[in-house]
Amino acid sequence: MNDLWYPEFGLRENPFSSYEFTYDTSSGINCYVKTLAIDRICTYARSGSSVFFVGAKGSGKSVAIHMASVELYSQKLILSFVAPKTFADVYNSIWDEFVGLEGQDQGEHYDDVNTYLSDRHSDDIAAWSGKKRCAYFDCRKRDKCRILNGKSGNITINLFMENIFRIQNNCPMKRRIIEEMLEDLRGKLKGYVYLLDVPDDFIDGGKYTKIVMERLVAALQKSGTVIVTCTSEQYKVIAKSESLARYPNVDFPLPTKENLKQMYVERVSAFRKNERTEENHLFPFSNQALEYLIDVSEGVPREFIFKCGEVLVKMQREDALNPADLSFVVSALGFGTMISETDAINSMLAELRAKVRVWVKTKEMVKLLMQKGVTVTSKRLGRRLKNEWKLERRYCSDSEYKVSP
Ligand SMILES: Nc1ncnc2c1ncn2[C@@H]1O[C@H](COP(=O)(O)OP(=O)(O)OP(=O)(O)O)[C@@H](O)[C@H]1O
Ligand SMILES: [Mg+2]
Ligand SMILES: [Zn+2]
Repeated sequence: MNDLWYPEFGLRENPFSSYEFTYDTSSGINCYVKTLAIDRICTYARSGSSVFFVGAKGSGKSVAIHMASVELYSQKLILSFVAPKTFADVYNSIWDEFVGLEGQDQGEHYDDVNTYLSDRHSDDIAAWSGKKRCAYFDCRKRDKCRILNGKSGNITINLFMENIFRIQNNCPMKRRIIEEMLEDLRGKLKGYVYLLDVPDDFIDGGKYTKIVMERLVAALQKSGTVIVTCTSEQYKVIAKSESLARYPNVDFPLPTKENLKQMYVERVSAFRKNERTEENHLFPFSNQALEYLIDVSEGVPREFIFKCGEVLVKMQREDALNPADLSFVVSALGFGTMISETDAINSMLAELRAKVRVWVKTKEMVKLLMQKGVTVTSKRLGRRLKNEWKLERRYCSDSEYKVSP
């Protein structure tokens, strides 16, 4: 009797079905590999240096923030924002952490904020209390910023605090109140480390969210260290801001080949842990196949995991009994007729490297590319390999390129 998804390899389910931090936990993934990026984040956090980490999409930034906050938790006051969808989520987390709701979920600074809001006759709050709705002219969803349940015109601070927490949209008035609150609390929050993944709505909002980002970072910076991770596309927008461009930016390092292999081993093992499958099962990919998968993924974990999944699903559908070898993986990744010249060259180079080839003639490579459905002249291929892939060339009766280091 066997109700495994892929009994030959003892797998309960496909271990590569999630390639995004947000979905990992619900897909049963909870063990992460320690990478250089995680160490780097911790180092900056410990030394109190604010910095922007710029890394590829899917390179493991959210995982790194999560892991770094776990690692630093015992030594530092940490507030991390992992893979937030919107800026509104970030502001809500700030409120949630420091203020919270009256009663059981009360944050450490609930009373301070209560006193501060009561003492201070802010125009914002007065406007909000009077009309019972957000009075910010450029708030995009003013109707949703309504304060509920208050008897007409009579808004207590408690009610206000409860409501501001419930407003989920990106309300500028709410943000301003929270920024002022951070400013007021800064003496008490001193030493905090804020780990922030740039929210998903950053790019969509263009110039508007650039300003939100500036204000958020400035507000957090007053009471601690701010470490931000972003993609290079996001950083292009960030760099246009004078105040944000002042922070140093460093590369978010990709995991090593060894790290990726470990991710593969841990995922496969995690999906096997089951009393009935304790016996020694083979791993689903041969070493050569694994090297190839790492190479075509260019070291990006999301690419790697996604490709592993594609190959494994194909094996499972075909009821393959043995681990996938190099040629299976190449064909499973479906580099058919639709492949671009660049992808074809990348996959060809990866195949050659997996076979540990070093010097390869242009002629042979032209032929290999033809098999992938891409026609290119020797001259053009040579030029591209030299200029874009920076491969070394030598003449040995014919021109040859060094494809492996
Ligand atoms: N250190 C790691 N150990 C194990 N798995 C990892 C590690 N880093 C990343 N991964 C896996 O790679 C996938 C992508 O990672 P993650 O979502 O953190 O990337 P990201 O850089 O935040 O992407 P995006 O730019 O889209 O926000 C996840 O499914 C995650 O499980
Ligand atoms: Mg992320
Ligand atoms: Zn509003």
